[in-house]
Amino acid sequence: MDKQISSERKMFFKGDQDSHLAESLRVLRTNIHFMEEKENRIVVFTSTIPREGKSTIAANYAMSVAISGEKVLLVDCDIRRPRAHSSFGIEITHGMGSVLLGDKKIEDVILKDIEENLDILPSKHLSQNVTELFLGNKMKDLLKALRGKYDLIVLDTPPLVVATDAVILSEYADGVVYVCGYDMVSKKELLQSKDMLDRAGANIYGIVVNKIDKRGYSYGNYGYYNNNYSYYEEYIKGDK
Ligand SMILES: Nc1ncnc2c1ncn2[C@@H]1O[C@H](COP(=O)(O)OP(=O)(O)OP(=O)(O)O)[C@@H](O)[C@H]1O
Ligand SMILES: [Mg+2]
Repeated sequence: MDKQISSERKMFFKGDQDSHLAESLRVLRTNIHFMEEKENRIVVFTSTIPREGKSTIAANYAMSVAISGEKVLLVDCDIRRPRAHSSFGIEITHGMGSVLLGDKKIEDVILKDIEENLDILPSKHLSQNVTELFLGNKMKDLLKALRGKYDLIVLDTPPLVVATDAVILSEYADGVVYVCGYDMVSKKELLQSKDMLDRAGANIYGIVVNKIDKRGYSYGNYGYYNNNYSYYEEYIKGDK
């Protein structure tokens, strides 16, 4: 597929070894690695509510593993607000939905070598009928076929308050990384989400506490928890 570079590209970790981000990613990479020394891993990233930083952490984790020399695929499973490609500054004409519908071959949709060792399987906003395909056996088969081709597959999913996709996808994955924006969710909400994942038999690798500054304060999120319900509505309507 032709890669059109747009101006949206965000800043990502590029192996600058001394930054705070680089250090945090090293810790995350090592912890997940030792959690399960398994080849061809599939790891789900999710959170409770929108904007806690799932996509940022998932993409940076994928990048940090790719930099270490492993072959990585980042899959945008957020079919309501697919954005993985635009975070990397790329515009797409087809996404995973076209593969699940049988309209496109997987090799025509995967964005190869976004960075060295890093491919992306992007998504476009999916209609309801494709949503069923997405969470059904077709997706399972797709991941099964891709598993052998990558050392690591990272699934970036929507927040659990919006949809339970991550719970379903966790059944096809080896583990789940739970992203938690500091001071953004209540303990009760966290426990409810954990319960949902536990009931599905998900293997929760651990929690990444995000959006915290070096002194232990959150930033930019004060009041967010109480006033972001309209955002959920936009999200559910498929706002892009
Ligand atoms: N550790 C961080 N440092 C600075 N900015 C961050 C950090 N994590 C996330 N952000 C910013 O917070 C915003 C939300 O992040 P992101 O899109 O990764 O969240 P998300 O949980 O995937 O959201 P959604 O639920 O909408 O998919 C983005 O603008 C991102 O750049
Ligand atoms: Mg996201």
